[in-house]
Amino acid sequence: MTHANTPRAQKSPRSDAADNIPRVTAFPATGTGWDELERGLKSFKGLDYDWRGGRLPSYTYFYSDELLKVQMDAYRLYSVENGLGEGRAFPSLTRMLEDINAMVLDLFHAPAGAGMTFTSGGTESLFEAVRTARNYFQANRPASANGGRERLNVIAPVSAHAGLNKAGEIMDIDIIRVPVGPEYRADAKRMLELVNDRTIMLFSSAPCYPYGVFDPIGELGAAAAERNLWLHVDACWGGFISPFAEELGYAIPPWDLGVTGVTSLSADIHKFGYGAKGASALVFRDSEMKKFERFEFSGWPRGTYATPSFMGSKPAGSVAAAWAVMRFLGREGYLATTKAAMDATCQLIHGINAIPGLRCLEPNREANLYGYVSQDSEVDIIAVANELQGKGWLPGQLREPLAIQQGVNPVHLPVVPQYLEDVAAAVKTVRKSGERGVFNPRTY
Ligand SMILES: Cc1ncc(COP(=O)(O)O)c(C=O)c1O
Repeated sequence: MTHANTPRAQKSPRSDAADNIPRVTAFPATGTGWDELERGLKSFKGLDYDWRGGRLPSYTYFYSDELLKVQMDAYRLYSVENGLGEGRAFPSLTRMLEDINAMVLDLFHAPAGAGMTFTSGGTESLFEAVRTARNYFQANRPASANGGRERLNVIAPVSAHAGLNKAGEIMDIDIIRVPVGPEYRADAKRMLELVNDRTIMLFSSAPCYPYGVFDPIGELGAAAAERNLWLHVDACWGGFISPFAEELGYAIPPWDLGVTGVTSLSADIHKFGYGAKGASALVFRDSEMKKFERFEFSGWPRGTYATPSFMGSKPAGSVAAAWAVMRFLGREGYLATTKAAMDATCQLIHGINAIPGLRCLEPNREANLYGYVSQDSEVDIIAVANELQGKGWLPGQLREPLAIQQGVNPVHLPVVPQYLEDVAAAVKTVRKSGERGVFNPRTY
């Protein structure tokens, strides 16, 4: 039986909860009291997957109510202020950013003279890294033989985050994706063969989202230093996990600014930094590079408008929350959050490998990301994913190879036994029914 992803299978199992909230069909003539609005908002949550119950493969990052309260209270204190204006109106934000810079640069072994930009998330960090590299390239490289009209390019492994292509699309830059080598890591040799005089950046991940493995950053860094190329390390997922996982004894390959040749690095505070959404760090080995990122425009009647990165008005709440959670947790706290996420990852990998017919992709345990395939022709892995979805889990799907893929965070730890039980039951059901699924590309 072929079982496509039916609308029912796509729906969250809790979707009936908000059915009695009246729909708004036009702009309201009068206001509504907060009590009613709050009730509405709380009911809306019934439409969603139970993130606190560990039902999601990513999207939310939660450790404890105590930590969440710090994040939310800090955000609330600064929900009205604005990050626009480079501290003219709100020098308090500049102060907080200086503290955040110091914490982040230290964590990622940045050398003296490094600098950082606070961005709204991984996508903006990637965009800004490429934009800065492009501006730097244009300012420093003589136009090539054809007058510099040929498009610029970034060379990346195929596993690079999709957001890189958004940057390429916006700026008309070619993103050349190269097949990964053994162990799903970037094929450095092949990437370097493709470098030409229009290459503005080599791109790598630490780790990449699809496979949870680290690219050979040492090798890429050495080549980048030798050939004077810009190397970006995308640590948006792992930036606030890897330093602590390494301290806990996990074998984490070299990846940060301690590696020669790394020019810039992105790390999301709103993921495993446990900041509020809208927070990422873009770090430059040399703060002079920030000159190539800064935008300034004076050709309008209002004078000079300047921003350090892409956004204009900017949520101050995410800056305040980032400042607060990093200080609240400290190294000690992040060791605890990372231990919970990595313990859950190891238990899941161990448990899934024990289910007949399933196998986790290798290498694994370099990060809190894992994927598993079916090794049994009678068990279609996408049908297993559909079964799990019917039980209220939202599985991530991987296309190459066909697999269930997910990120792990501390909320998953208490539900590992339940998840494994449901996976084992789903495998049995699929084996019995012969059900086959259709890969759903929209599971990010
Ligand atoms: C490695 C990596 N880079 C970039 C991003 C994009 O981050 P965001 O969704 O915050 O824009 C992600 C998101 O999961 C990621 O895992």
